[in-house]
Amino acid sequence: MSNFRVNENTDPAALVVTTPIYYINGEPHIGHAYASIAADIIVRFKRLDGCEVHFSTGTDEHGIKVARSAQAANADSYEFCNIMSGTFQNMNKAINLSEHDFIRTTEERHKKSATAFWKLLEKDIYKNTYAGWYSVRDEEYVPESEIVDGKAPSGAPVEWVEEDSYFFRLSSYQERLLRYYEENPDFIAPPARKNEVVSFVRNGLKDLSISRSKFTWGIPVPDAAPHVMYVWVDALTNYITSLGFPENKDNVSAMMRNCIHIVGKEILRFHAVYWPAFLMSAGISLPKRIFAHGWWTHDGQKMSKSLGNVVNPFDTIKNYGLDQLRYFLFREVHFGEDGDFSEKALQDRTSYDLANDIGNLVQRVLAFIQKLGGFLTINYDFTPSEKILFDNARELVGKMRTKIDKQDLHGALDTVWSLIAESNKFVNDMKPWVLVNTDTLRLNAILTVLCESIKAIAFGISPFMPDTASKIFGFINTRGEAFIELENNFTDQKFPVPIPLFPKEK
Ligand code: MSP
Repeated sequence: MSNFRVNENTDPAALVVTTPIYYINGEPHIGHAYASIAADIIVRFKRLDGCEVHFSTGTDEHGIKVARSAQAANADSYEFCNIMSGTFQNMNKAINLSEHDFIRTTEERHKKSATAFWKLLEKDIYKNTYAGWYSVRDEEYVPESEIVDGKAPSGAPVEWVEEDSYFFRLSSYQERLLRYYEENPDFIAPPARKNEVVSFVRNGLKDLSISRSKFTWGIPVPDAAPHVMYVWVDALTNYITSLGFPENKDNVSAMMRNCIHIVGKEILRFHAVYWPAFLMSAGISLPKRIFAHGWWTHDGQKMSKSLGNVVNPFDTIKNYGLDQLRYFLFREVHFGEDGDFSEKALQDRTSYDLANDIGNLVQRVLAFIQKLGGFLTINYDFTPSEKILFDNARELVGKMRTKIDKQDLHGALDTVWSLIAESNKFVNDMKPWVLVNTDTLRLNAILTVLCESIKAIAFGISPFMPDTASKIFGFINTRGEAFIELENNFTDQKFPVPIPLFPKEK
């Protein structure tokens, strides 16, 4: 009877999802939480869908920026990293990141991996002198032509660097990259960002300086002291370290083909130009997709430490609730676009979308069943209008899958909210309370289809709001571990007493 299918178009064995690894020069903020929650939503969806997913995140600990922050804190670099990396691990607990590999670039496994990776690139590496501008805040070389009023395009200060350096022959990858973008039109998303990357590459690629010789806080270049690797070469390699590189290169390469990198728009160039060129040089497959998300401002202003307006994820979760935040971030703006964070907008979303729409639906249906003694005689013998809601409920996850596979997280939530609206309207139209004394058979069918719809909704919100979903699963005696459970019909049963999902005082 069901038209539900699991995994029509995904290879269940090999999905890899990554977040950027975060610089630990400061405390985690909402921007970091955002990228990680986005990846977590995709991972949770795919796991519920029956895929095995490798999920990696972590901290980017080398480079001048981190070394200087440690100095400023009067701390040894490594001790500083231990403490700061710990705060990011705490963030992951606070945002309910599902099981993952947390990788630190100061770990031995990573040093081994970056060293082996460098050796694979050697045919494209030569020694020369770098003389030019460097932005420590962005950990990026800035061409003279991009300097505006003595600053990097990001507004960060730049300093002059002149030192021996190893270079990677990036220029020789220009044509191959352009061909790859052409042949793999979904490699970079969203499309507007892809166009920026393509025109950047078309404008000509210069060879890239990939080592530093005047400071030490990095991974040594093999047999080339005092050179340490440029922090971006070190950092990008984390993705394959997590897959077990340098062991089983073929397997790592195969997994990379099914890998989705979630990154912020300002670091897309590193992921969509440098990283693919490195991988081509190393003979490792390129990732399946690089998705660049937008940036959050706070009450219309850029977030910055100096303005003191950085949104702290720990405080926001304490004040407004975790699922409320996870929902807000992906409902308020289309994933890929910039957004503005405000406490008022978060509270409004909580009252309208969560307490009113979904909270009310669950409460009005399940509390009503309690009025009937908490026991429901299940009836799947549906009238056409009941059948429409039933079919829509069973089709929800399939509709979401096509959105999630495009990283359209906002669109996926939209489909859930349509079903919530349809279900609330169904209750209003069917008026089950009128049927209590007149038609028990219809009443049971109406409540059965509503429970089916609530079950589908709980599965639909589960990747976004795992705690709320698990409360709903508890109310309807459902395990909530895999979408395949949607195929199971309810049987006659006693329902536990529901408690309000989003009480007003929160
Ligand atoms: N360490 C590098 C990434 C290396 S990945 C191989 C880095 N770290 S970061 O800590 O500066 O930034 C990490 C991510 O946080 C970026 O993807 C960035 O887009 C994101 N955000 C930082 N501020 C942000 C907002 N205000 N809004 C949304 N995301 C933002 O770059």
